[in-house]
Amino acid sequence: MYAERVLSGMRPTGRLHLGHYHGVLKNWVKLQDEYPCLFFVADWHALTTTYDEPGTIEENTREMVIDWLAAGVDPARATLFIQSRVPEHAEFHLLLSMMTPLGWLERVPTYKDQQEKLEHKDLSTYGFLGYPLLQAADILIYRANRVPVGEDQVPHIEFSREIARRFNHLYGREPDFEAKASAAVKLLGAKRAREYEELRTRFQQDGDHQARERGRVLLDEAQNLSTDDRERLFGYLEGSSKMILVEPGALLTEAAKMPGLDGHKMSKSYNNTISLRESADSVTKKIRTMQTDPARVRRTDPGEPERCPVWQFHLVYSDEGTKQWVQQGCRSAGIGCIECKHPVIDAVLKEQEPMHERAQAYIDDPTLVRSIIADGCERARKLAAETMRDVREAMGLNYT
Ligand code: TRP
Ligand code: SF4
Repeated sequence: MYAERVLSGMRPTGRLHLGHYHGVLKNWVKLQDEYPCLFFVADWHALTTTYDEPGTIEENTREMVIDWLAAGVDPARATLFIQSRVPEHAEFHLLLSMMTPLGWLERVPTYKDQQEKLEHKDLSTYGFLGYPLLQAADILIYRANRVPVGEDQVPHIEFSREIARRFNHLYGREPDFEAKASAAVKLLGAKRAREYEELRTRFQQDGDHQARERGRVLLDEAQNLSTDDRERLFGYLEGSSKMILVEPGALLTEAAKMPGLDGHKMSKSYNNTISLRESADSVTKKIRTMQTDPARVRRTDPGEPERCPVWQFHLVYSDEGTKQWVQQGCRSAGIGCIECKHPVIDAVLKEQEPMHERAQAYIDDPTLVRSIIADGCERARKLAAETMRDVREAMGLNYT
């Protein structure tokens, strides 16, 4: 069995905002204490949609990695790297492409969705169609069994599982597996061989799990089998083959509850964000000028928190006492909107303070980030190289 491993990637979109923090990064910071983690910048993935603006990748990558570090992702615990610096991903993607049915890619829901959403761009490219396969290569090359992603990425994880299964099915078998398995069955002796065949049929044909259990016990008790033959017969019993790639599972991140300044989801395209490392002045100004309940025109008009984006911020940042103070004070016109915003401003500033502090060291000395990345890339490459050795061998490419 392979060890537990978490992997996730993010396309380099530039500076991250509080939506990324509450939706993704806080979770990464937690996971790095629980599992061995790999986090990477998916710069090749960025090129699938921005192939015509390559100039933005370098700066976006640097800013994004500083944001990760600012948020508390710790290079001593997690491995941070850049996809394009581990070219094994590309080799693996190519090899997987040989056995990937075109229909599987065309059926991934993000393919049509994104094409429709980004209609100003020609996305009928080979690279864009292959996006989920590149992602599968990213995941499978580290034999990562846990992949923290948002809801929108679940089909990609499911696709990766299917690719792993197909790969194991196609290449996880010795070329003469059936013949060797049949020969091993004979070694069981006539009576046990008959029982084994019967159990095998009952499991594979009828899904009888008890039969599988009994088959396993039977094999355990057969003392004249070599280790290889016993392995073969376990595999033959279950109809499975050797597991070269690990099927990953999605670790679903709760949908980000972080609202934007206008009450819609915080997103760069809505222009309603507070960036992770926004200056204190700018944070204060943005929240001060935030839209409130439109029905509350004068200070003396009572308001309704449910209609107010500021209330959404209280839901993220305030304790019960403060929330009651808002509900009561707003509905009775007991508090003014500026007053109501103060605890929110304070909470955001307090959350960002350690982020500014952590980021400063990396801004002052860019070689720090470079060496963290160089280190991470080296570690990642070692892991990727191990899988690639098995993959090349399984696909008949390990000759000289
Ligand atoms: N497609 C992911 C996104 O847009 C980014 C990504 C690329 C990724 N490769 C990955 C995420 C591997 C998890 C694992 O968010
Ligand atoms: Fe919104 Fe607070 Fe003003 Fe009520 S008092 S409208 S919740 S900002």
